[in-house]
Amino acid sequence: ESESTVSITVVGASGDLAKKKIFPALFALYYEGCLPKHFTICGYARSKMTDAELRTMVSKTLTCRIDQRENCGEKMDQFLERCFYHSGQYDSQDHFAQLDKKLKEHEAGRIPNRLFYLSIPPNIFIDAVRCASLSASSGNGWTRVIVEKPFGRDSESSAALTKALKQYLEEDQIFRIDHYLGKELVENLSVLRFSNLIFEPLWSRQYIRNVQLIFSEDFGTEGRGGYFDNYGIIRDIMQNHLLQILALFAMETPVSLDAEDIRNEKVKVLRSMRPLQLENVVTGQYKSHVRGGITYPAYTDDKTVPKDSLTPTFAAAALFIDNARWDGVPFLMKAGKALHNKRAEIRVQFRHVPGNLYNRNIGTDLDRATNELVIRVQPDEAIFLKINNKVPGLGMRLDRSNLNLHYAARYSTEIPDAYERLLLDAIEGERRLFIRSDELDAAWALFTPLLKEIEEKKIIPEYYPYGSRGPVGAHYLAARYKVRWGDVGLDQ
Ligand code: BG6
Repeated sequence: ESESTVSITVVGASGDLAKKKIFPALFALYYEGCLPKHFTICGYARSKMTDAELRTMVSKTLTCRIDQRENCGEKMDQFLERCFYHSGQYDSQDHFAQLDKKLKEHEAGRIPNRLFYLSIPPNIFIDAVRCASLSASSGNGWTRVIVEKPFGRDSESSAALTKALKQYLEEDQIFRIDHYLGKELVENLSVLRFSNLIFEPLWSRQYIRNVQLIFSEDFGTEGRGGYFDNYGIIRDIMQNHLLQILALFAMETPVSLDAEDIRNEKVKVLRSMRPLQLENVVTGQYKSHVRGGITYPAYTDDKTVPKDSLTPTFAAAALFIDNARWDGVPFLMKAGKALHNKRAEIRVQFRHVPGNLYNRNIGTDLDRATNELVIRVQPDEAIFLKINNKVPGLGMRLDRSNLNLHYAARYSTEIPDAYERLLLDAIEGERRLFIRSDELDAAWALFTPLLKEIEEKKIIPEYYPYGSRGPVGAHYLAARYKVRWGDVGLDQ
Protein backbone atom coordinates (compact mmCIF):
# COMPACT_ATOMS: atom_id res chain seq x y z
CA GLU A 1 0.00 0.00 0.00
CA SER A 2 1.57 3.25 -1.05
CA GLU A 3 1.53 6.23 1.23
CA SER A 4 0.86 9.76 0.17
CA THR A 5 2.99 12.83 0.51
CA VAL A 6 2.35 16.53 0.14
CA SER A 7 4.63 18.96 -1.65
CA ILE A 8 4.02 22.59 -0.84
CA THR A 9 5.51 25.03 -3.34
CA VAL A 10 5.63 28.65 -2.28
CA VAL A 11 5.72 30.57 -5.55
CA GLY A 12 7.25 33.96 -4.82
CA ALA A 13 9.33 32.60 -1.96
CA SER A 14 11.48 35.66 -1.46
CA GLY A 15 8.51 38.03 -1.13
CA ASP A 16 7.32 39.70 2.02
CA LEU A 17 4.22 37.60 2.59
CA ALA A 18 6.16 34.36 2.17
CA LYS A 19 8.82 35.41 4.65
CA LYS A 20 6.53 36.99 7.22
CA LYS A 21 3.54 34.68 7.10
CA ILE A 22 3.73 31.55 4.99
CA PHE A 23 6.98 29.93 6.11
CA PRO A 24 6.37 30.76 9.78
CA ALA A 25 2.85 29.32 9.52
CA LEU A 26 4.17 26.13 7.92
CA PHE A 27 6.72 25.78 10.69
CA ALA A 28 4.07 26.31 13.37
CA LEU A 29 1.99 23.55 11.78
CA TYR A 30 5.03 21.30 11.71
CA TYR A 31 5.77 22.00 15.36
CA GLU A 32 2.21 21.19 16.30
CA GLY A 33 2.43 17.91 14.41
CA CYS A 34 -0.29 19.03 11.99
CA LEU A 35 1.59 18.44 8.75
CA PRO A 36 1.38 15.00 7.14
CA LYS A 37 4.19 12.55 7.92
CA HIS A 38 5.70 12.96 4.47
CA PHE A 39 5.98 16.50 3.18
CA THR A 40 8.35 18.72 1.25
CA ILE A 41 8.40 22.48 1.10
CA CYS A 42 9.82 24.14 -1.95
CA GLY A 43 10.45 27.83 -2.42
CA TYR A 44 10.16 29.01 -6.02
CA ALA A 45 11.30 32.42 -7.24
CA ARG A 46 13.33 34.09 -9.95
CA SER A 47 16.48 34.96 -8.06
CA LYS A 48 19.32 32.46 -7.81
CA MET A 49 19.58 30.94 -4.36
CA THR A 50 20.87 27.68 -2.94
CA ASP A 51 18.86 25.48 -0.60
CA ALA A 52 21.15 26.62 2.21
CA GLU A 53 20.50 30.26 1.41
CA LEU A 54 16.75 29.70 1.40
CA ARG A 55 17.02 27.97 4.78
CA THR A 56 18.98 30.87 6.21
CA MET A 57 16.42 33.32 4.88
CA VAL A 58 13.48 31.33 6.21
CA SER A 59 15.08 30.62 9.57
CA LYS A 60 15.20 34.34 10.36
CA THR A 61 11.44 34.58 10.61
CA LEU A 62 10.58 31.31 12.35
CA THR A 63 9.45 31.65 15.93
CA CYS A 64 8.17 29.39 18.64
CA ARG A 65 5.15 30.09 20.76
CA ILE A 66 5.73 30.99 24.37
CA ASP A 67 4.04 27.80 25.53
CA GLN A 68 6.17 25.51 23.39
CA ARG A 69 9.75 26.65 23.64
CA GLU A 70 10.87 23.11 24.33
CA ASN A 71 12.96 21.55 21.53
CA CYS A 72 12.25 24.55 19.42
CA GLY A 73 15.71 24.79 17.87
CA GLU A 74 15.76 21.09 17.14
CA LYS A 75 12.34 21.23 15.48
CA MET A 76 13.43 24.18 13.42
CA ASP A 77 16.41 22.26 12.08
CA GLN A 78 14.23 19.27 11.21
CA PHE A 79 11.79 21.58 9.46
CA LEU A 80 14.47 23.43 7.51
CA GLU A 81 15.92 20.14 6.27
CA ARG A 82 12.68 19.60 4.40
CA CYS A 83 12.77 23.02 2.72
CA PHE A 84 14.28 23.37 -0.75
CA TYR A 85 14.65 26.05 -3.32
CA HIS A 86 14.07 26.12 -7.03
CA SER A 87 14.87 29.11 -9.16
CA GLY A 88 12.78 29.78 -12.27
CA GLN A 89 10.70 32.22 -14.23
CA TYR A 90 6.99 32.43 -13.44
CA ASP A 91 6.01 32.02 -17.08
CA SER A 92 8.29 29.17 -18.09
CA GLN A 93 6.80 25.73 -18.51
CA ASP A 94 10.33 24.36 -18.76
CA HIS A 95 11.27 25.74 -15.38
CA PHE A 96 8.16 24.27 -13.84
CA ALA A 97 8.97 20.96 -15.51
CA GLN A 98 12.35 21.06 -13.74
CA LEU A 99 10.50 21.78 -10.50
CA ASP A 100 8.32 18.77 -11.21
CA LYS A 101 11.40 16.59 -11.55
CA LYS A 102 12.81 17.85 -8.28
CA LEU A 103 9.52 17.32 -6.46
CA LYS A 104 9.32 13.76 -7.80
CA GLU A 105 12.68 12.96 -6.24
CA HIS A 106 11.42 14.04 -2.85
CA GLU A 107 8.10 12.30 -3.30
CA ALA A 108 9.99 9.02 -3.70
CA GLY A 109 7.20 7.07 -5.38
CA ARG A 110 4.52 7.99 -2.85
CA ILE A 111 1.16 9.33 -4.04
CA PRO A 112 2.01 12.97 -4.68
CA ASN A 113 -0.34 15.69 -3.53
CA ARG A 114 0.69 19.15 -4.55
CA LEU A 115 -0.18 22.51 -3.10
CA PHE A 116 0.96 25.72 -4.78
CA TYR A 117 0.83 28.94 -2.82
CA LEU A 118 0.88 31.88 -5.23
CA SER A 119 2.48 34.70 -3.33
CA ILE A 120 3.12 36.81 -6.41
CA PRO A 121 1.71 39.98 -8.03
CA PRO A 122 -1.58 39.56 -9.88
CA ASN A 123 -0.17 40.27 -13.34
CA ILE A 124 1.73 36.97 -13.26
CA PHE A 125 -0.97 34.82 -11.55
CA ILE A 126 -2.23 33.29 -14.75
CA ASP A 127 1.20 32.52 -16.18
CA ALA A 128 2.22 30.77 -13.01
CA VAL A 129 -1.04 28.81 -12.83
CA ARG A 130 -0.70 27.76 -16.47
CA CYS A 131 2.88 26.55 -16.00
CA ALA A 132 2.22 24.85 -12.67
CA SER A 133 -0.85 23.10 -13.96
CA LEU A 134 0.62 21.99 -17.30
CA SER A 135 4.09 21.05 -16.09
CA ALA A 136 4.01 20.40 -12.37
CA SER A 137 0.61 19.12 -11.32
CA SER A 138 0.23 15.79 -9.61
CA GLY A 139 -0.47 12.72 -11.70
CA ASN A 140 -2.49 10.55 -9.33
CA GLY A 141 -2.84 12.78 -6.26
CA TRP A 142 -4.55 16.14 -5.86
CA THR A 143 -3.29 19.53 -7.01
CA ARG A 144 -4.51 22.68 -5.28
CA VAL A 145 -3.63 26.32 -5.71
CA ILE A 146 -3.93 29.00 -3.06
CA VAL A 147 -4.33 32.52 -4.42
CA GLU A 148 -4.22 35.79 -2.54
CA LYS A 149 -6.08 38.95 -3.36
CA PRO A 150 -6.24 41.18 -5.36
CA PHE A 151 -8.72 39.09 -7.35
CA GLY A 152 -9.02 41.77 -10.01
CA ARG A 153 -10.00 45.36 -9.30
CA ASP A 154 -13.63 45.30 -10.41
CA SER A 155 -16.31 42.91 -11.68
CA GLU A 156 -14.87 42.62 -15.19
CA SER A 157 -11.23 42.07 -14.31
CA SER A 158 -12.22 39.63 -11.59
CA ALA A 159 -14.41 37.66 -14.00
CA ALA A 160 -11.57 37.61 -16.51
CA LEU A 161 -9.21 36.27 -13.86
CA THR A 162 -11.67 33.57 -12.81
CA LYS A 163 -12.19 32.58 -16.43
CA ALA A 164 -8.46 32.34 -17.04
CA LEU A 165 -7.90 30.31 -13.86
CA LYS A 166 -10.65 27.92 -14.87
CA GLN A 167 -8.88 27.14 -18.13
CA TYR A 168 -6.34 25.29 -16.01
CA LEU A 169 -8.09 24.48 -12.75
CA GLU A 170 -11.45 23.25 -11.50
CA GLU A 171 -13.23 25.45 -8.96
CA ASP A 172 -12.50 22.90 -6.23
CA GLN A 173 -8.76 23.23 -6.86
CA ILE A 174 -8.79 26.99 -6.31
CA PHE A 175 -8.41 28.23 -2.75
CA ARG A 176 -8.99 31.99 -2.62
CA ILE A 177 -7.66 33.29 0.65
CA ASP A 178 -9.22 36.03 2.71
CA HIS A 179 -6.99 35.79 5.75
CA TYR A 180 -9.56 37.50 7.98
CA LEU A 181 -11.61 34.31 7.77
CA GLY A 182 -8.72 32.51 9.45
CA LYS A 183 -8.74 34.80 12.47
CA GLU A 184 -9.79 33.17 15.70
CA LEU A 185 -12.56 35.59 16.58
CA VAL A 186 -13.99 35.64 13.11
CA GLU A 187 -14.26 31.86 13.20
CA ASN A 188 -15.82 32.15 16.61
CA LEU A 189 -18.57 34.40 15.32
CA SER A 190 -20.66 31.43 14.22
CA VAL A 191 -19.98 29.58 17.46
CA LEU A 192 -21.15 32.56 19.45
CA ARG A 193 -24.32 32.93 17.41
CA PHE A 194 -25.34 29.35 16.86
CA SER A 195 -24.27 27.57 20.02
CA ASN A 196 -25.57 30.03 22.60
CA LEU A 197 -29.25 30.50 23.18
CA ILE A 198 -28.96 34.10 24.24
CA PHE A 199 -27.66 35.74 21.08
CA GLU A 200 -29.48 34.29 18.09
CA PRO A 201 -33.01 35.35 19.20
CA LEU A 202 -31.76 38.95 19.36
CA TRP A 203 -29.95 38.79 16.02
CA SER A 204 -32.28 40.81 13.83
CA ARG A 205 -33.79 44.21 13.14
CA GLN A 206 -36.12 43.68 16.05
CA TYR A 207 -33.37 44.12 18.64
CA ILE A 208 -30.29 45.35 16.80
CA ARG A 209 -30.06 49.05 16.01
CA ASN A 210 -26.87 48.96 13.99
CA VAL A 211 -23.74 46.93 13.39
CA GLN A 212 -20.28 48.43 13.03
CA LEU A 213 -17.29 46.82 11.36
CA ILE A 214 -14.14 48.71 12.12
CA PHE A 215 -10.59 48.29 10.87
CA SER A 216 -7.78 50.67 11.66
CA GLU A 217 -4.02 50.62 11.37
CA ASP A 218 -1.58 53.01 12.97
CA PHE A 219 0.83 52.98 10.05
CA GLY A 220 0.54 54.12 6.46
CA THR A 221 1.19 52.35 3.19
CA GLU A 222 4.95 52.80 3.56
CA GLY A 223 6.72 50.58 1.07
CA ARG A 224 3.50 49.31 -0.52
CA GLY A 225 2.39 52.52 -2.18
CA GLY A 226 2.94 51.13 -5.65
CA TYR A 227 0.45 48.32 -5.08
CA PHE A 228 -1.90 50.32 -2.93
CA ASP A 229 -2.39 53.25 -5.25
CA ASN A 230 -4.00 51.04 -7.86
CA TYR A 231 -6.47 49.63 -5.31
CA GLY A 232 -7.23 51.92 -2.39
CA ILE A 233 -8.71 51.06 0.98
CA ILE A 234 -12.15 50.06 -0.32
CA ARG A 235 -10.66 47.25 -2.41
CA ASP A 236 -7.89 46.50 0.08
CA ILE A 237 -10.06 46.01 3.18
CA MET A 238 -13.79 46.62 2.70
CA GLN A 239 -14.69 44.60 -0.36
CA ASN A 240 -13.07 41.52 1.18
CA HIS A 241 -12.18 41.46 4.88
CA LEU A 242 -15.03 43.57 6.25
CA LEU A 243 -17.61 42.30 3.80
CA GLN A 244 -16.74 38.71 4.64
CA ILE A 245 -17.23 39.42 8.32
CA LEU A 246 -20.53 41.10 7.53
CA ALA A 247 -21.71 38.07 5.57
CA LEU A 248 -20.85 35.68 8.41
CA PHE A 249 -22.45 38.00 10.90
CA ALA A 250 -25.70 38.40 9.01
CA MET A 251 -26.24 35.01 7.35
CA GLU A 252 -29.12 32.68 8.20
CA THR A 253 -28.40 29.44 10.05
CA PRO A 254 -26.67 27.15 7.54
CA VAL A 255 -28.01 23.64 6.97
CA SER A 256 -24.72 22.24 8.31
CA LEU A 257 -21.14 23.27 8.85
CA ASP A 258 -20.18 22.02 5.39
CA ALA A 259 -18.34 24.48 3.21
CA GLU A 260 -21.08 24.58 0.58
CA ASP A 261 -23.84 25.12 3.13
CA ILE A 262 -22.02 28.00 4.80
CA ARG A 263 -21.02 29.64 1.56
CA ASN A 264 -24.57 29.30 0.22
CA GLU A 265 -25.81 31.36 3.15
CA LYS A 266 -23.06 33.96 2.85
CA VAL A 267 -23.69 34.50 -0.83
CA LYS A 268 -27.40 35.06 -0.13
CA VAL A 269 -26.51 37.91 2.21
CA LEU A 270 -24.22 39.47 -0.38
CA ARG A 271 -26.85 39.22 -3.06
CA SER A 272 -29.47 40.82 -0.79
CA MET A 273 -27.43 43.94 -0.27
CA ARG A 274 -28.75 47.27 -1.45
CA PRO A 275 -26.56 48.93 -4.12
CA LEU A 276 -24.11 51.27 -2.45
CA GLN A 277 -24.82 54.97 -2.91
CA LEU A 278 -22.01 57.46 -3.15
CA GLU A 279 -23.79 59.63 -0.60
CA ASN A 280 -23.43 56.77 1.89
CA VAL A 281 -19.67 56.74 1.58
CA VAL A 282 -16.95 59.01 2.95
CA THR A 283 -13.37 58.75 1.72
CA GLY A 284 -10.18 60.15 3.18
CA GLN A 285 -6.46 60.29 2.57
CA TYR A 286 -3.79 60.92 5.17
CA LYS A 287 -1.62 63.97 5.07
CA SER A 288 1.66 64.73 6.76
CA HIS A 289 1.68 65.51 10.45
CA VAL A 290 4.32 66.64 12.91
CA ARG A 291 4.08 65.30 16.44
CA GLY A 292 6.67 65.31 19.19
CA GLY A 293 9.26 66.60 16.75
CA ILE A 294 8.68 63.69 14.37
CA THR A 295 7.32 64.30 10.89
CA TYR A 296 4.93 61.60 9.71
CA PRO A 297 4.64 61.42 5.91
CA ALA A 298 1.61 62.10 3.76
CA TYR A 299 0.34 59.26 1.59
CA THR A 300 1.54 61.13 -1.50
CA ASP A 301 5.05 61.54 -0.05
CA ASP A 302 5.64 57.91 -1.01
CA LYS A 303 7.85 57.94 -4.12
CA THR A 304 5.81 55.20 -5.76
CA VAL A 305 2.57 57.20 -5.39
CA PRO A 306 1.67 59.96 -7.91
CA LYS A 307 1.71 63.38 -6.27
CA ASP A 308 -1.87 64.09 -7.30
CA SER A 309 -3.24 60.69 -6.27
CA LEU A 310 -6.86 60.71 -5.02
CA THR A 311 -6.70 57.10 -3.82
CA PRO A 312 -8.52 56.75 -0.51
CA THR A 313 -6.55 55.46 2.46
CA PHE A 314 -9.68 55.75 4.60
CA ALA A 315 -13.31 55.03 3.91
CA ALA A 316 -16.54 54.79 5.87
CA ALA A 317 -19.75 53.44 4.41
CA ALA A 318 -23.33 52.69 5.40
CA LEU A 319 -24.63 49.44 3.92
CA PHE A 320 -28.03 47.79 4.06
CA ILE A 321 -29.22 44.24 3.65
CA ASP A 322 -32.66 44.24 2.08
CA ASN A 323 -34.01 41.05 3.58
CA ALA A 324 -36.56 40.24 6.25
CA ARG A 325 -34.04 39.90 9.05
CA TRP A 326 -32.08 43.09 8.47
CA ASP A 327 -34.49 45.49 6.78
CA GLY A 328 -33.48 49.06 7.74
CA VAL A 329 -30.53 48.16 9.98
CA PRO A 330 -27.44 50.17 9.04
CA PHE A 331 -24.21 48.19 8.76
CA LEU A 332 -21.49 50.77 9.12
CA MET A 333 -18.00 50.03 7.91
CA LYS A 334 -14.92 52.04 8.61
CA ALA A 335 -11.39 51.22 7.43
CA GLY A 336 -8.29 53.32 7.45
CA LYS A 337 -4.53 53.49 7.44
CA ALA A 338 -2.32 55.88 9.41
CA LEU A 339 -4.90 56.32 12.16
CA HIS A 340 -4.34 56.66 15.89
CA ASN A 341 -4.56 52.95 16.71
CA LYS A 342 -4.43 49.44 15.30
CA ARG A 343 -7.64 47.54 15.76
CA ALA A 344 -10.26 45.35 14.14
CA GLU A 345 -13.63 44.90 15.78
CA ILE A 346 -17.30 44.22 15.37
CA ARG A 347 -19.75 46.30 17.39
CA VAL A 348 -23.39 45.51 17.75
CA GLN A 349 -25.56 48.23 19.22
CA PHE A 350 -28.90 47.08 20.56
CA ARG A 351 -32.15 49.01 20.76
CA HIS A 352 -33.43 50.95 23.74
CA VAL A 353 -35.28 49.05 26.42
CA PRO A 354 -38.94 49.90 25.79
CA GLY A 355 -40.50 51.79 28.69
CA ASN A 356 -37.28 51.56 30.65
CA LEU A 357 -38.07 52.03 34.34
CA TYR A 358 -34.58 53.26 34.96
CA ASN A 359 -34.34 55.95 32.31
CA ARG A 360 -34.21 58.62 35.01
CA ASN A 361 -31.28 56.99 36.73
CA ILE A 362 -29.12 56.69 33.69
CA GLY A 363 -28.24 60.34 33.26
CA THR A 364 -28.62 62.43 30.17
CA ASP A 365 -26.80 60.24 27.68
CA LEU A 366 -29.60 57.81 26.91
CA ASP A 367 -27.90 56.77 23.72
CA ARG A 368 -25.02 55.36 25.70
CA ALA A 369 -27.36 53.35 27.87
CA THR A 370 -28.20 50.71 25.32
CA ASN A 371 -26.45 47.38 25.29
CA GLU A 372 -23.49 46.88 23.02
CA LEU A 373 -21.73 43.66 22.14
CA VAL A 374 -18.12 44.08 21.10
CA ILE A 375 -16.08 41.41 19.39
CA ARG A 376 -12.50 42.56 19.28
CA VAL A 377 -10.79 40.59 16.55
CA GLN A 378 -7.37 42.12 17.28
CA PRO A 379 -5.23 43.03 19.06
CA ASP A 380 -5.91 41.70 22.55
CA GLU A 381 -8.78 39.48 21.49
CA ALA A 382 -11.94 39.85 23.55
CA ILE A 383 -15.70 39.63 23.56
CA PHE A 384 -17.55 41.95 25.86
CA LEU A 385 -21.09 43.02 26.45
CA LYS A 386 -21.88 46.44 27.80
CA ILE A 387 -24.68 46.37 30.29
CA ASN A 388 -26.30 48.85 32.64
CA ASN A 389 -25.47 48.15 36.22
CA LYS A 390 -26.32 49.71 39.54
CA VAL A 391 -23.44 51.57 41.07
CA PRO A 392 -23.10 50.00 44.52
CA GLY A 393 -24.38 52.20 47.32
CA LEU A 394 -27.54 53.46 48.88
CA GLY A 395 -28.58 55.63 45.94
CA MET A 396 -29.94 54.42 42.63
CA ARG A 397 -27.53 55.38 39.96
CA LEU A 398 -26.68 53.26 36.97
CA ASP A 399 -23.52 53.04 34.98
CA ARG A 400 -22.24 50.96 32.11
CA SER A 401 -20.08 47.97 32.84
CA ASN A 402 -18.65 45.13 30.82
CA LEU A 403 -19.31 41.45 31.00
CA ASN A 404 -15.91 40.60 29.72
CA LEU A 405 -14.32 37.60 28.06
CA HIS A 406 -10.73 38.60 27.70
CA TYR A 407 -8.85 35.90 25.83
CA ALA A 408 -5.45 36.50 27.41
CA ALA A 409 -6.96 36.11 30.88
CA ARG A 410 -9.17 33.15 30.03
CA TYR A 411 -6.99 31.02 27.77
CA SER A 412 -3.35 30.26 28.27
CA THR A 413 -2.67 29.11 24.72
CA GLU A 414 -1.42 31.59 22.21
CA ILE A 415 -3.80 32.28 19.33
CA PRO A 416 -2.60 30.77 16.06
CA ASP A 417 -1.96 33.02 13.12
CA ALA A 418 -4.72 33.10 10.50
CA TYR A 419 -2.38 31.60 7.91
CA GLU A 420 -1.83 28.48 9.98
CA ARG A 421 -5.49 27.58 10.02
CA LEU A 422 -5.92 28.39 6.33
CA LEU A 423 -2.88 26.43 5.17
CA LEU A 424 -3.96 23.45 7.22
CA ASP A 425 -7.46 23.65 5.74
CA ALA A 426 -6.06 23.80 2.22
CA ILE A 427 -3.91 20.73 2.88
CA GLU A 428 -6.94 18.92 4.27
CA GLY A 429 -9.21 20.08 1.44
CA GLU A 430 -11.53 22.00 3.78
CA ARG A 431 -13.03 24.90 1.81
CA ARG A 432 -15.22 26.52 4.44
CA LEU A 433 -12.91 29.48 5.00
CA PHE A 434 -12.09 30.14 1.35
CA ILE A 435 -14.01 32.35 -1.06
CA ARG A 436 -16.14 30.64 -3.68
CA SER A 437 -16.29 32.28 -7.10
CA ASP A 438 -19.97 33.29 -6.80
CA GLU A 439 -19.19 34.99 -3.47
CA LEU A 440 -16.41 36.90 -5.14
CA ASP A 441 -18.72 37.93 -7.99
CA ALA A 442 -21.35 39.16 -5.55
CA ALA A 443 -18.77 41.13 -3.57
CA TRP A 444 -17.57 42.85 -6.72
CA ALA A 445 -21.11 43.46 -7.95
CA LEU A 446 -21.74 45.40 -4.77
CA PHE A 447 -18.62 47.58 -4.88
CA THR A 448 -17.84 48.02 -8.58
CA PRO A 449 -20.42 50.73 -9.45
CA LEU A 450 -19.39 52.75 -6.40
CA LEU A 451 -15.68 52.44 -7.18
CA LYS A 452 -16.28 53.48 -10.78
CA GLU A 453 -18.27 56.51 -9.68
CA ILE A 454 -15.59 57.59 -7.19
CA GLU A 455 -12.95 57.29 -9.89
CA GLU A 456 -14.93 58.86 -12.73
CA LYS A 457 -16.07 61.82 -10.66
CA LYS A 458 -12.59 62.19 -9.20
CA ILE A 459 -14.02 62.49 -5.72
CA ILE A 460 -11.58 64.38 -3.53
CA PRO A 461 -10.87 62.51 -0.31
CA GLU A 462 -11.11 64.34 2.99
CA TYR A 463 -7.54 64.85 4.19
CA TYR A 464 -6.75 63.75 7.73
CA PRO A 465 -3.50 64.02 9.66
CA TYR A 466 -1.35 60.90 9.99
CA GLY A 467 -2.07 59.36 13.39
CA SER A 468 -5.46 61.04 13.85
CA ARG A 469 -8.92 59.53 14.20
CA GLY A 470 -9.65 60.07 10.53
CA PRO A 471 -12.03 62.40 8.68
CA VAL A 472 -14.92 63.94 10.61
CA GLY A 473 -17.11 63.06 7.61
CA ALA A 474 -17.33 59.56 9.10
CA HIS A 475 -19.21 61.02 12.07
CA TYR A 476 -21.67 62.92 9.89
CA LEU A 477 -22.30 59.78 7.91
CA ALA A 478 -23.07 57.81 11.06
CA ALA A 479 -25.17 60.66 12.45
CA ARG A 480 -27.37 60.56 9.36
CA TYR A 481 -28.47 57.13 10.58
CA LYS A 482 -28.61 58.23 14.21
CA VAL A 483 -25.54 56.18 14.96
CA ARG A 484 -22.53 57.01 17.04
CA TRP A 485 -19.33 55.09 16.35
CA GLY A 486 -18.69 52.85 19.32
CA ASP A 487 -14.92 53.15 19.17
CA VAL A 488 -14.73 56.83 20.07
CA GLY A 489 -15.13 58.44 23.44
CA LEU A 490 -13.90 57.44 26.84
CA ASP A 491 -15.84 54.33 27.46
CA GLN A 492 -14.89 52.07 24.57
C1 BG6 B 1 -4.12 42.91 3.93
C2 BG6 B 1 -4.08 44.29 3.34
O1 BG6 B 1 -5.08 42.14 3.25
O2 BG6 B 1 -4.46 42.98 5.29
C3 BG6 B 1 -3.12 45.17 4.13
O3 BG6 B 1 -3.68 44.23 1.99
C4 BG6 B 1 -3.41 45.13 5.61
O4 BG6 B 1 -3.18 46.50 3.67
C5 BG6 B 1 -3.55 43.69 6.09
O5 BG6 B 1 -2.36 45.77 6.29
C6 BG6 B 1 -4.02 43.65 7.53
O6 BG6 B 1 -3.94 42.32 8.00
P1 BG6 B 1 -3.73 42.04 9.54
O7 BG6 B 1 -3.86 40.57 9.65
O8 BG6 B 1 -2.37 42.56 9.89
O9 BG6 B 1 -4.80 42.79 10.25
